[in-house]
Amino acid sequence: MSSIQQEIEKRRTFAIISHPDAGKTTLTEKFLLYGGAINTAGSVKGKASAKHAVSDWMEIEKERGISVTSSILQFHFDGYCINILDTPGHQDFSEDTYRTLMAADSAVMVIDGSKGVEAQTIKLFKVCAMRHIPIFTFINKMDREAKDTFELLEEIENVLGIKTCPVNWPIGSGKRFKGVYDRETKQVAVFKAVSTGGSSEAEETDLSIDDAKLKEEAGEELYQQLTEEVEILDVAGEELDSELVAKGEVSPVFFGSALTNFGIETFLHHFLKMTSSPLPRVSNEGVIDPVTGPFSGFIFKIQANMNKAHRDRIAFMRICSGKFEAGMEVYHVQGKRKQKLLQPQQVMAQSRSVIDEAYAGDVIGIFDPGTFSIGDTICEPGKKFQYEGIPTFAPEHFCRVVQADTMKRKQFVAGITQIAQEGAIQIFKDYNLDLSEIIVGVVGVLQFDVLKFRMENEYNCEVRLEPLPYSQMRWVRDNGFNLDNLRRSSEIKKAKDMRDNPLLLFQNEWNVRMCLENNEGLELEEVK
Ligand code: G4P
Repeated sequence: MSSIQQEIEKRRTFAIISHPDAGKTTLTEKFLLYGGAINTAGSVKGKASAKHAVSDWMEIEKERGISVTSSILQFHFDGYCINILDTPGHQDFSEDTYRTLMAADSAVMVIDGSKGVEAQTIKLFKVCAMRHIPIFTFINKMDREAKDTFELLEEIENVLGIKTCPVNWPIGSGKRFKGVYDRETKQVAVFKAVSTGGSSEAEETDLSIDDAKLKEEAGEELYQQLTEEVEILDVAGEELDSELVAKGEVSPVFFGSALTNFGIETFLHHFLKMTSSPLPRVSNEGVIDPVTGPFSGFIFKIQANMNKAHRDRIAFMRICSGKFEAGMEVYHVQGKRKQKLLQPQQVMAQSRSVIDEAYAGDVIGIFDPGTFSIGDTICEPGKKFQYEGIPTFAPEHFCRVVQADTMKRKQFVAGITQIAQEGAIQIFKDYNLDLSEIIVGVVGVLQFDVLKFRMENEYNCEVRLEPLPYSQMRWVRDNGFNLDNLRRSSEIKKAKDMRDNPLLLFQNEWNVRMCLENNEGLELEEVK
């Protein structure tokens, strides 16, 4: 086996998705602890949970550091090389969060056992489902009072539309949480909270399901409940079918408590065993194999530098095939030119370090002099294939941008277009008029502040943002429907994106439904 093949086969690249506060950061941190990438609990959390106030965010960027929220974490565990793609969760939720999912080969969905499926989980899940990648569920916070286990699974199935298959099963929750039963080994990992002076930890002992000690630990009632539930599962539940998991049709479900480090190692072992190393990806010249293919990758995210003195940007590239070596010459397909990738970096939680080599599955940060766009393909010179583009997702917050100083029209247009090109905001113009009215749409509201700040600092152009009452946007499918004939459209705004694709802005989902009902033949799209 070639060394490239060995390197690629040990790679696992995944994203963790969740609603804020479900425990994504805590879980990530425990993974890193196992991999020895960090050695104290709290190293990741400190920064990531500082619920970024605008000023914080800018300070971080000004210092030229890339914030934790946009980082890629790489660590080694059990012979694997693992890349976790972090998906920002709080106010800094943005379209980048969606795009990061394009670079992942699988996803871990963290759900708070007391809350079930929440709003942001649904949005992120949809993007993963669109790509048919394997999705593993970790139901967290079992040390707190959780919803009924069957109800939780039903909720996932009904709300998200994915089948579930529990790999293990919890015994009680909250104060009565006794552990998890592994359906394959028929062993119970017994949970016992221990206090270690501040940090929360749990003791884990394994007992067989018919061990008398288990009955004692769990108590008669919970033990009875467990045996009954296990019987129901064995009779009615489906077998874990790895092919369906690989296609993203069934989600293996695990229970645990990230905070107390309970159930994490089991999860990691199963997850690594059941996911694959990077798979071939589709290009316009057919499928490119990660091992035998030439070096290639695509840009999924561009992050501007907030430092005025350095207008450079960092482009995040997911390597899809082959090996990357520092200093190698590559071909930028969309830019139609050969170039050396300067300062290739690994972007880690708290630091960026220059790297010498990277392999399919890895993500590296490369210096962008302003020539890359999201979705661009980079490959070995001599090749010209392109990977499928990265979709654009409908924003949910909209403002009209007004220029304070009308004399600075040129800077205004240049700034807005440049920032939009980086992908954090989308700009729309009125359906009939040209650029006389500019609307910006964002997925997360923090981007509004960033836009204002950058327009003022980088383009010396003061802007005013006037909130618009829309929360839904849909592109109009080009099927011959004439928007001039749109009926009952008093509360709907017609607009166009910068590529002149027509779209509609709605105040709420109900308006979207009504519009479709009132306009036969109209077809709308949430992702372009
Ligand atoms: P996020 O990244 O998904 O937003 O969640 P994060 O890990 O920051 O966790 C959110 C809160 O939930 C944190 O508490 C964290 O300690 C807690 N938490 C995470 N996993 C578990 C768990 O398994 N059990 C329990 N009981 N709590 C858990 P916080 O009070 O907001 O932060 P902190 O003060 O503890 O840092």
